[in-house]
Amino acid sequence: MIRVRPEVASINPYIAGRTTAAVAAEIGLEESAIVKLASNEAPEGPFPGVSGAVARAAADANRYPDNAIRGLAALTASHHGIDPDNLWFAAGSSSTLREVALAVGGPGTSAVFPDPSFVIYQLATKLSGATGRPVALDSDFRVDLDQLLSAIDATTTVVYLCNPNNPTGTVNATEDTRRFLDAVSDDVLVVVDEAYEEYVTDPDWQSMIPEAVSRPNVIVTRTFSKIFALAAFRVGYAVGMAATLAELRKAQAPFTVTTVAQVAAAESLQDPTELERRRAANAAGRRGLESGLADRSIGYVPSQANFVYLPMDDPGRVFAEFQQHGVITRSTPGGLRVSVGTDLEMRRFFAVLDKLSLA
Ligand SMILES: Cc1ncc(COP(=O)(O)O)c(C=O)c1O
Repeated sequence: MIRVRPEVASINPYIAGRTTAAVAAEIGLEESAIVKLASNEAPEGPFPGVSGAVARAAADANRYPDNAIRGLAALTASHHGIDPDNLWFAAGSSSTLREVALAVGGPGTSAVFPDPSFVIYQLATKLSGATGRPVALDSDFRVDLDQLLSAIDATTTVVYLCNPNNPTGTVNATEDTRRFLDAVSDDVLVVVDEAYEEYVTDPDWQSMIPEAVSRPNVIVTRTFSKIFALAAFRVGYAVGMAATLAELRKAQAPFTVTTVAQVAAAESLQDPTELERRRAANAAGRRGLESGLADRSIGYVPSQANFVYLPMDDPGRVFAEFQQHGVITRSTPGGLRVSVGTDLEMRRFFAVLDKLSLA
């Protein structure tokens, strides 16, 4: 038997949401009959223009990608009103999170993160050899910033804040988050994961990007996998001060963002009208999902993301029943997470829900 590091041996591998093909084969339906509301993906395909740009870029597949990601960095910088030096790209923001953990973690250190939250914080912490300190959410299913702060000690090198939080869809108020950043010692890296930022409709909520470009111990992570509908291409990034990013990116392998991913993301950023349309579509879909649940007196946590969390005692059973009817949701230890789909997908979701004992 090969010998792996004990930290690696102890990892329970990441379990991805089930694919439509796998579920279709299991329950004997056509793949087109399956509704996937499991992975918080965009329900529509890539932005117009992306397929053509990707096809053109594919002709250069014999060349390594631009490791400095110049074209995409310039567009992303202007999208946020920051400098390209404030950006560090990776093959999805989960890669960024993993590389951050490898850069700042290691035996004898600890990492603080909310729980439940995005599982990669915990996996990456283990991989690095650091000790994970999970911190329960507050009674409103929000990240508990005070408890997060209390969990930090002299061994802590990184704290993760997921805002909006996955799987609960809750946000922390801007002023509370700023106060939290003020309170964290400047030798502790704060990673603010804003994978779902584009879906937030709360007018008082603000991104922490302005803080990240002015505080050496803060980075914000973002992704093209969600509203930009490029989950399969794997491209995400961190925003921070250039010197901070330069240290962190030493943990990254070269050429991890492929040329087609760079081109697809760049093409998407040049279509702000489509971005707005999708933002509005998600807000309407989320309203429909939440009001449908309320009409049926099913408890849910009001969401600022592209999914809604239904706290329940037996999410595994409900997940299995939905799946039996061709609807894939996501079961977590304390509840069921349902992504916002198209109108048709939401109708299928409610049609199945009305057949289940949950309703
Ligand atoms: C909170 C959060 N962060 C990051 C990601 C990762 O996105 P990606 O690696 O596709 O960029 C996800 C994906 O579901 C997420 O929920």
